[in-house]
Amino acid sequence: DPAAALSALRAEIGDCTRCKLHEGRTKIVFGEGDPRAALAFVGEGPGRDEDLSGSPFVGAAGQLLTKIVNAIGLERRDVFICNVVKCRPPKNRDPEPDEIAACGPFVRRQLEIVGPRVIVALGRPAAQFLLGTSEPIGALRGSFRESGGALVMPTFHPAYLLRNESAKRPVW
Ligand code: URA
Repeated sequence: DPAAALSALRAEIGDCTRCKLHEGRTKIVFGEGDPRAALAFVGEGPGRDEDLSGSPFVGAAGQLLTKIVNAIGLERRDVFICNVVKCRPPKNRDPEPDEIAACGPFVRRQLEIVGPRVIVALGRPAAQFLLGTSEPIGALRGSFRESGGALVMPTFHPAYLLRNESAKRPVW
């Protein structure tokens, strides 16, 4: 039962202090959505709104992600949404290698439990983490690669789209 497996994983994470990001966090943002989703989105890490609410992608970038999900005929509850790290990095900086090393195994297990056919990697940290590469996002985006039994589609992060209108078309 994927819902029960996700609950057990959340319990295992507990009040996590495995990396330094715990020092500045308000809430752990575990991820949410359909435990059997065929489509998952993986972002970078919680921002301010997510840190306060405990839910992924609820701020300005999150509202744009919700519109993207709706535009392909789905609701947020139909997909699974999580991040490479579950605690907000200070000033929204990129997650650091030691933080990804501490949190990444939990993301991988979430994705194993949910078992999506397609994972959309939102931005460079998610794409590089999921594909185990250091290639730039501009080179990775737009084509599927296989990873752990799923097809991974890297694309630009919605926060980037808010600053660069012209990147919306390639994401679409
Ligand atoms: N940006 C992310 O990468 N993840 C969130 O949950 C919110 C903003």
